[in-house]
Amino acid sequence: MRAITVEPHHPHTARLEDIPEPDVRDGSILVEAVAVGICGTDVEIVDGKYGWAPPGETRLVLGHESLGCVVDPGPSAAFRKGDLVVSIVRRPDPVPCPNCAVGEWDMCGNGRYTERGIKEINGFMSERWRIEPEYAMKIDPSLGLLGVLLEPTTVVTKAWEQVFAIGQRAFWEPRTVLVTGAGPIGLLAALVGRQRGLEVHVLDRVESGPKPDLVRALGATYHTGTVADVGFEPDVIVECTGVGQVIQDAVTGIGAGGIVCLTGVGAGGSTVGPAVADVAAAAVLKNNAIVGSVNANKRHWYKAGQALAHADRSWLARLVTRREPPENLMRALQRQPEDIKVVIQFREA
Ligand code: BGC
Repeated sequence: MRAITVEPHHPHTARLEDIPEPDVRDGSILVEAVAVGICGTDVEIVDGKYGWAPPGETRLVLGHESLGCVVDPGPSAAFRKGDLVVSIVRRPDPVPCPNCAVGEWDMCGNGRYTERGIKEINGFMSERWRIEPEYAMKIDPSLGLLGVLLEPTTVVTKAWEQVFAIGQRAFWEPRTVLVTGAGPIGLLAALVGRQRGLEVHVLDRVESGPKPDLVRALGATYHTGTVADVGFEPDVIVECTGVGQVIQDAVTGIGAGGIVCLTGVGAGGSTVGPAVADVAAAAVLKNNAIVGSVNANKRHWYKAGQALAHADRSWLARLVTRREPPENLMRALQRQPEDIKVVIQFREA
């Protein structure tokens, strides 16, 4: 079967090639790939900056934002041929650490977790893949291709859960949220914020293209410029850019008792503004909490499925701005100005 593979930590090695059919040991459910979303992590892996091949192998099948159609459910009574499914990305570490032992692998304490398409287990950019029933999530069939948005929605669902859990440390009635970055994660964070009844503001650098309208269609407000330019101190900031200056501005711009949730993974860069001790002093005096959030466990996958099922289909459809066949991988990876979510499409949903 055809698959997109890469040699992690070796740039320019991604290619479409023929590989053997998936091994039955990978899971009892056989799935035909429908589509796989591309995100910044995939770009990092292709650029040779991240990712790990399965033990004993040199190449990794790329792709962790899956959507597929069950062709053989195997012995599991919970799945049927034709079901649209998405795979959970992370698997618990083998020790396991206490968090993995209770199914909270997103909070793995020893870093020995594995992730499909990222860390030591093959991903989903292959014509067929296999999955264990306990890691397969059925989606609302009416979502069709939009089910490919489930994985990024799980990431924001966990981030929101973190924010609300931390909020319980004191009396807390959040009203305003600022989302920094209007990429897929930012827009989905805004969607979930609106579903929770919050006043949502989204900040991004672009002034045209689909993003401003997508934000307004949620009943949220679109801003350009800096965090300080939004003109108020938010109760919550969900940071989705990973850009040093935006992170610094978020930490200094949050309101008293407010929570900054960091979801973007960036690197390097330089910042201008107050020194770290001054930023920390302000956070102390305002009781701020700054929390990083990565990945998602099964509870988040379940909740994210509900969030997508309740979302407006035409709004979700506008997030998928480009679909490319597997042979166009390189074109799919090249960011176009109007891109939001680009997917590799293997077949119709
Ligand atoms: C994925 C997460 C993963 C993280 C770190 C993200 O792109 O969505 O599932 O945990 O990368 O590898």
